[in-house]
Order: sequence, then structure tokens, then C-alpha cells
Amino acid sequence: MLLEVKNISVAYFGSFLFKKKPFFALKDVSFSVNYRESVTILGESGSGKTTLGRLIVRLVEPTEGKVYLEGRNIFSYGKEYTKKVSMVFQNPTDALNPRYSVWEAVEEPLLVHGIKNRKEVVERVLTSVGVERRLWFRKTHQLSGGQKQRVAIARALVLNPLLIVADEPTSALDLSVAYEILELFKKLKREQSLIFITHDVRIGTKIGEKVILLLGGRVLEISPVREFLKKPLHPYGVFLLNNLPVESPYKRRETSRGMELKTLRDKGCPFRINCPYKDDKCELFPPEKVVNLENGERRVWCWFYV
Ligand SMILES: Nc1ncnc2c1ncn2[C@@H]1O[C@H](COP(=O)(O)OP(=O)(O)O)[C@@H](O)[C@H]1O
Ligand SMILES: [Mg+2]
Repeated sequence: MLLEVKNISVAYFGSFLFKKKPFFALKDVSFSVNYRESVTILGESGSGKTTLGRLIVRLVEPTEGKVYLEGRNIFSYGKEYTKKVSMVFQNPTDALNPRYSVWEAVEEPLLVHGIKNRKEVVERVLTSVGVERRLWFRKTHQLSGGQKQRVAIARALVLNPLLIVADEPTSALDLSVAYEILELFKKLKREQSLIFITHDVRIGTKIGEKVILLLGGRVLEISPVREFLKKPLHPYGVFLLNNLPVESPYKRRETSRGMELKTLRDKGCPFRINCPYKDDKCELFPPEKVVNLENGERRVWCWFYV
């Protein structure tokens, strides 16, 4: 097992009328990532995706629970951890130092870790992510959004990490550029363990082999993408697939018309307001239910299956 996230909760302690009231961005989240596996974390805005990504690269500390990389608590590693796990952020402009040239931006992680023969490595990685040679000595602030994101991806790859976490890496880009970056991730996931974070079902199901459905800080389902697309187990998954944008508003399915998602953040299931199967039990969050299939395991957190 490459990465294991075990019973993670993350609380933010904002001051609220002088009283510190914890806000749980993640609650009791568990999942794992295998070597060379690509996993999609799918959830609407505010569901806790960025918090989860930042936790895995140690930019956020858990309030409860542990994260293990190759069996070892991630917070017990020294600076070598940044060599093993790296992150691509939503906005490449924030992720890159505008004073650096493309070359310097990609070379820096190698310098930090005292790695020699840098020229070869930088050339190879810039070429592999499709940054044209004529841009290599430009300042990063002179690049377009798509070019910046390629440089950020090169930076994330340059130390040959075990795992890359990409947090909505296409959503700050123009549509055609976003498509190109998505193609790059499709290529990457063949060689690389990847956690791909997105709010977009259509993008998410093109990248991951496994989907982790997140809502209101809770994991609701973990399934192979193929099975999820055929038949989601959780009613929220059904809701998502029924609400996919369609070419014409007249084609929208009857069941989803005018359905607005209302998420609850309390002791219960975060989806219950919209859920057609809701009953009294849903006031408490359900235990995990494992469903075994010939082609793998699925997990769902819904009283319907308990
Ligand atoms: N630093 C913070 N302090 C307080 N609340 C935060 C902080 N960061 C995120 N949150 C809240 O935690 C929840 C999850 O945020 P986030 O992880 O960014 O979700 P997502 O990436 O899915 O939109 C949101 O309600 C957000 O407002
Ligand atoms: Mg986010």
C-alpha cells in the first residue's frame, strides 16, 4: 500500500464571537491508494477536497487520525517527504515564483535536495510535459495559464515522486487549454500514482480508476470508476449522474429538474435533505458497508445498504 488515510478529521478553529467553535472540513475520512493507482476525489465546492489534498502534502495537520506513506506516519518523515509526494495546485500563477525563469522553477526542488546532474533531469521533465524549448528561459510570469500549469506539473514531477496530488489543475484554465492539461494527466496516470481532485464528474471519471465521493467533509462512496458510472451505490452519486450538464436544457431528466443540492454538516448524512430514501436513521451518519464484486471492492456509507 502506498498511501493510507485513516479516520482523518480536520477542524478549523475560527473565532466566532470570541468563542472558538471548530468547523470540521473533514470527518472520519479513510481510504487508500495503491502503487501506480490513480484515484479521483470527487466533490462539490466546500466538500473538503483541498483540505484533503493539503493534508496529504502536510500543509494541513489532522485533528484526528493518521496518514501513512509506505506504512510510515507522514509527519514522522523529514524534508525527504517533499521528494516523495508533491502537489499541483488549482492556480498555477500562485504556485510559481514570478521572478524565476521556467528553468529555475523546475530546477529549484533539485537544488533543495542537493541533487546533481540537474541539467539532464530538467530538460527531460520539461520536454515530457510539453514546455517548448523557446520558453525555458522566460520568466514564469510571462507565460500563459496553460504554459504555467505545465511548468508547475514539471516542478511536481522533477524529483520523481511516489505520488502526485493534483487539486483541480484544470479549473482555472480556458476550456481548450484545460482539455490539453487533462490529456497530459491522462498520460501521466499511466506512469504515476495520482490523486486527482475535481468537482466535475465528467473530468473525474476520465482520470481515476477509483472514485472517492466526498460531501460535507464525509466520504459517501468508494468505487471503481467503471462501476460507479454504471450504477452509483450512494443516492448522492445517482444525483450527480442525473444532474450532468446536457446539450439542451429540454433534455434534462425529469428527476433532476430544479433539484438544488443542500448539504448538511452535522452528525447525520450530509445528503439527507435531497435524498429520496431518507428516514430517521439518517440523522446519524451510517457505518461503512463493504460490497464485494468479482472485479473489486466497493464501499458505501448509506443506511440503505446496512
Ligand atoms: N483555513 C480555513 N479556515 C476556516 N475554514 C476553512 C479553511 N479552509 C477551508 N475552510 C472551510 O472548510 C470547508 C472545506 O474547504 P475546502 O477544503 O477548500 O473544500 P473544497 O476544496 O472541496 O472546496 C469549506 O467550508 C471552507 O470554507
Ligand atoms: Mg478546493
